[in-house]
Amino acid sequence: MDLTGRVVVVTGAGSGIGRAAARAFAVTGARVLGVGRREDALDETAAGFPGIAVHPADLCAPGAAAGVVEAATGRWGRLDVLVNNAGATRVMPLADTTGEGISAVFDLNVVAPSLLARAALPHLGRTRGSIVNVSSTYGHRPLPGAAHYAASKAALEQLTRSWALELAAGGVRVNALAPGPTESEALAAAGMPPAEVERLKREEAARIPLGRRGEPGEVADWVVRLADPAASWLTGQVLTVDGGLELT
Ligand SMILES: NC(=O)c1ccc[n+]([C@@H]2O[C@H](COP(=O)([O-])OP(=O)(O)OC[C@H]3O[C@@H](n4cnc5c(N)ncnc54)[C@H](OP(=O)(O)O)[C@@H]3O)[C@@H](O)[C@H]2O)c1
Repeated sequence: MDLTGRVVVVTGAGSGIGRAAARAFAVTGARVLGVGRREDALDETAAGFPGIAVHPADLCAPGAAAGVVEAATGRWGRLDVLVNNAGATRVMPLADTTGEGISAVFDLNVVAPSLLARAALPHLGRTRGSIVNVSSTYGHRPLPGAAHYAASKAALEQLTRSWALELAAGGVRVNALAPGPTESEALAAAGMPPAEVERLKREEAARIPLGRRGEPGEVADWVVRLADPAASWLTGQVLTVDGGLELT
């Protein structure tokens, strides 16, 4: 894949799937703006990859979406790809569900990608670019104990299909990637104690037909493929990459 001269925004680029995606885009020759709250984590992503610039920002803060898009277009004069990868899970059984908890999950997983897509749209229209939303295998499977995470990803998948139709006439493609359990900081970021994280990882690996959790690079490659202008006739699709978990 050759994305030389293309400009890509990757959110959540300071760790896990986002870090791998930012680096994978950089390897194709694209110029990449990596976004996240921790500047040191973003700098680590960019180390050794001159095509990656960083933009520390909290995507849930007012004005963040416009700031991200202006940072990319101000620096490089165009925007070809928006990867809405930043997201978080939250353990929240129904009995413990709060309005604040629901809002936090939806603000990051649904509202922020929507506002970024809106801010990016005029630029994507000019470049006939594309949006890749990072959902989850739990965007279309039930997830007891974290139902609002699953619901937020289901919302992102439905936004993907609706935007694909809405933007098709303007030549903008919109697709989603739905990873299965993948090595990253996500479980720790959800506040799980390390012993619980290890137990869950073992349990997940045992349920996955290919017998293991995914590596971020195995997911990131597909993010790049969906965004690649060569995938010119692909829009509105949700691609699940989960070692076969969906089949069980
Ligand atoms: N790993 C999995 O098993 C798995 C499976 C299915 C789907 N996914 C999805 O894949 C995506 C990437 O997750 P990951 O697994 O790579 O987890 P991760 O390592 O926790 O990455 C999430 C990234 O999002 C950033 N982020 C969180 N809140 C933010 C905010 N308010 N503003 C800006 N950036 C923010 C974090 O950086 P800062 O903390 O520095 O802001 C972090 O780098 C998520 O959408 C997740 O739901 C993951």
